[in-house]
Amino acid sequence: MPRTILRQVFAAPESYCETTIVVCGWVRSLRASKAVAFLSLCDGSTLRPLQVVLGASLQNYAEAVKWGVGSAVRAVGTLVETPGTAQPFELRATEIALEGACPPDYPLQKKRHSMEFLRTIEHLRPRTNTIGAALRVRSAAAFAIHSFFQSRGFVCAHTPIITTADAEGAGEMFRVSADGAEEFFGKPAYLTVSGQLQGEAMAMAFGQIYTFGPTFRAENSHTQRHAAEFWMVEPEIAFADLRDNMALAEDMMKFVVGSVLAQCPDELDFFNQFMEPGLLARLHAVVQSQFHCVTYTKAVELLLQNTGRFEYKPAWGCDLQTEHERFLTEEIFQAPVFVVDYPKEIKAFYMRLNDDGKTVAAMDLLVPGVGEMIGGSQREERLELLEARLSQMGGSPAQYQWYLDLRRYGGCRHCGFGLGFERLLMYLTGLSNIRDVIPFPRTAGSADF
Ligand code: 4AD
Ligand code: MG
Repeated sequence: MPRTILRQVFAAPESYCETTIVVCGWVRSLRASKAVAFLSLCDGSTLRPLQVVLGASLQNYAEAVKWGVGSAVRAVGTLVETPGTAQPFELRATEIALEGACPPDYPLQKKRHSMEFLRTIEHLRPRTNTIGAALRVRSAAAFAIHSFFQSRGFVCAHTPIITTADAEGAGEMFRVSADGAEEFFGKPAYLTVSGQLQGEAMAMAFGQIYTFGPTFRAENSHTQRHAAEFWMVEPEIAFADLRDNMALAEDMMKFVVGSVLAQCPDELDFFNQFMEPGLLARLHAVVQSQFHCVTYTKAVELLLQNTGRFEYKPAWGCDLQTEHERFLTEEIFQAPVFVVDYPKEIKAFYMRLNDDGKTVAAMDLLVPGVGEMIGGSQREERLELLEARLSQMGGSPAQYQWYLDLRRYGGCRHCGFGLGFERLLMYLTGLSNIRDVIPFPRTAGSADF
């Protein structure tokens, strides 16, 4: 008989009641008396454990009651309703078999562990409620992102991971080389910091594309929201300006939050209860809300009225610090807010110069609890201006010839943005450390598993 996944059982218990099913999973707890034992079984498909009842008449009962927490087991039995008890139904086992024993030195014996401790056992922590829930949300959010773009006719573009161009011009790239070899690609190559530049080439062919893949940054920032390896979603749209870009970002955010609310109710309830009281209310509010928009210049004015609140004094021309970003979204707007039109000096070379000659058509989306979640812009489509900006910012136009070609051959107004996928997950779960929404995180100074 094929195995039934617990997620399916909990989704429609009535269709399994009074039938025989096979379930497989890991022992969460086991309470036994002489006559009966209760085994709590998790299989990872859902947060909910299934209660498996073992009667003393089972041929291996004496052996089974000694199985440790974490053991892998397979049970055959009848699902029966148990109204009025803690769980609405249970499995009365007719057979139970051990697939893999788990001795008492298994590190996940206790019910609750600190997040710090769990980070020392990345290979085992997906079996815990918290990390398990976070990674199921991750899976559901990834699917929602693909659904959103696919339903709008965007082409999914796989841009390269190894590249020779610094997309952000920030010099935060990891070098790629073959052990012992001279220069494998004939010139210096790196892990990509963003798929945008190749994404723009794809958008000039397909009109609307999105990338969704790993990106790498050698930033030496030891914060709770920076990873050296993280995933980015980068749509790029042709014949569109910054307003269209903001509308797309807002629609995408609402769609993904709405989908995860619908697909992961148990997980979000769990986080609402144990991580961030008010999480559910906040997520429901986002789906209904209208995102705000403020220019960088106005944002700096607002911050300057509150300088006493900050460690770093805000000033026009300087990058917004995390404390500034969070103050804007959490206290001033109390909602997601786009900050647009940043000074050109603090943004990447490809952003479109505004008519004031001082600012570029950039947009960052700031959200409560996280700060910057999205960074994007309208792209400079005017060849001479793009070449001038490249030189000003110390880039070599020779290296970017193919990118400049996109302006020479049928270039057009276009824009795009990058969503930090892990920042989105932090926002969805209330988890405050980026390492807890990545199965095997890589951060400055740490890549152990
Ligand atoms: O703002 P960023 O640097 O924008 C770009 O890379 C553009 N090329 C995107 C585009 O227009 N196609 O990065 C985009 C987002 C940030 O807003 C942030 O959410 C996330 O990526 N991000 C990081 N997430 C985790 N760890 C890091 N070190 C991150 N750096 C950026
Ligand atoms: Mg940014």
